Amino acid sequence: MNADAIAEEVRTLEVEFQKGLRKSIDIAADIGEHLERAKLELPHGQFEPWLRKAGVAKTTAHTYRAVARFRREGRFPTGATTLRQFVASMKRAKRAEDGVEDGGAPVEEHGVHLADAATFAFPDALDIIATDPPWAKDTDAFNVVGKIGGDRLAEDGLVLCQCGNASVREAIEGVTSNGLRVLWTFGIVYPTSRPQSRGGFANGFVPVVVAGRQRPKKKLLVSDVFRCDGFDKTLHPWQQAEAPWRYWLKELAQRPRIRVADPYSGSGTIGAVCAELGFEFTGTESNPKHHRTANKRLATRS
Ligand SMILES: C[S@@+](CC[C@H](N)C(=O)[O-])C[C@H]1O[C@@H](n2cnc3c(N)ncnc32)[C@H](O)[C@@H]1O
Repeated sequence: MNADAIAEEVRTLEVEFQKGLRKSIDIAADIGEHLERAKLELPHGQFEPWLRKAGVAKTTAHTYRAVARFRREGRFPTGATTLRQFVASMKRAKRAEDGVEDGGAPVEEHGVHLADAATFAFPDALDIIATDPPWAKDTDAFNVVGKIGGDRLAEDGLVLCQCGNASVREAIEGVTSNGLRVLWTFGIVYPTSRPQSRGGFANGFVPVVVAGRQRPKKKLLVSDVFRCDGFDKTLHPWQQAEAPWRYWLKELAQRPRIRVADPYSGSGTIGAVCAELGFEFTGTESNPKHHRTANKRLATRS
């Protein structure tokens, strides 16, 4: 087969692929409609157990339902040639709907912005990025942290990235994906940690990956283990304890008013601690409800 004939064959196959993709997306929307019906039918609190029985992951179910909603509203994005592109353009449309800020010049305004961490323009010369990214197979939040770190950290800045022990490999790969290296690890130990058996390990502490370009120049003696009195999950299901972060941010600060960022702010734990310590803080949060909670919380601290 010569090159022209191969090109012809590729064109034909691509048309087939596009048709198949469109068909798959329609099937995804059909699944989404079934999930909507099940959700309406099931008693409150029974949808998640039902999903497990149906073998559908919670995040995937969310995507199916969003695809169904977009089809119902006649808003299927055009021009996507892969499922990933299709979902990305749907997400962009959803962010625009929620009024999420996107890209542009570095934002100097402090507080938590309703924005996507991946596209938000964080200020330059950040001293510390302290964050607890969401972990799911279909997000690349740790890479986003590495990208912001490599692009925006001051020369001696640090990333402190909290993660589950089961996702420590992804966290390390992500935070080192743009020029930073792992310098240390910290651990938060709770008095009442609920051991979960993940792959044969009982989980008794929460790791924090510490990365940067170089070790802090100033002589510091910061404990890498923080024993916490307890935790509070009243504002967010993944709310971090404040105490370890109050300690680490204060001890690692090399100047009175350092510049801190949290790309995955949730209920604003890091921002609240920064407001209390008089540090500059820029955060992003993509969920409008958590975004409101975070800014309310920050306002009570400064
Ligand atoms: C593990 S929680 C953080 C909880 C937070 N540390 C606290 O103490 O409340 C991760 C947060 O990241 C947010 N998130 C997920 N994807 C995001 C994105 N692309 N940009 C910004 N925030 C995002 C989620 O809505 C969630 O609130």
